Amino acid sequence: ATNRTFTMLKPDAVRKGYIGAILEQITASGFRIVAMKLTQLTTDDAKAFYAVHKERPFYGELVEYMTSGPIVAAILEKENAVEDFRTLIGATNPEEAAEGTIRKKYATSISENAVHGSDSDENAAIEGAFHFSGREQF
Ligand code: CMP
Repeated sequence: ATNRTFTMLKPDAVRKGYIGAILEQITASGFRIVAMKLTQLTTDDAKAFYAVHKERPFYGELVEYMTSGPIVAAILEKENAVEDFRTLIGATNPEEAAEGTIRKKYATSISENAVHGSDSDENAAIEGAFHFSGREQF
């Protein structure tokens, strides 16, 4: 079925000038952009967004990194969006990401890994609503 996923182009990707190239690969892969903005997470935003990782050793580093500069937040629509987007971006660690995936091409490291993709339909809805009102989704 057609459904939606949520993505962020993370601060490292924005800093390096990869917004255009990454969006080109996303839309060329059949995803329709239904919401999008350039924004910056506050510390409270990042802590809340990544609350599931609160007990992980990298949580502090993750929050600091994700608030370090602007990000592009977007909602994407496609048949099987959540799973297909995770295939398109590749493994969390770019060293393990498949050839041609967005993380393989644009990520710096496991923490500065260029893009986020929701891991379930339920989280896609929660994460999308975190950034966009109903009126901002098309
Ligand atoms: P993402 O899957 O988008 O959301 C959780 C993030 O935590 C992940 O991307 C990485 O940026 C980060 N992360 C996951 N594992 C590690 C790790 N071992 N060390 C540092 N950061 C990590």
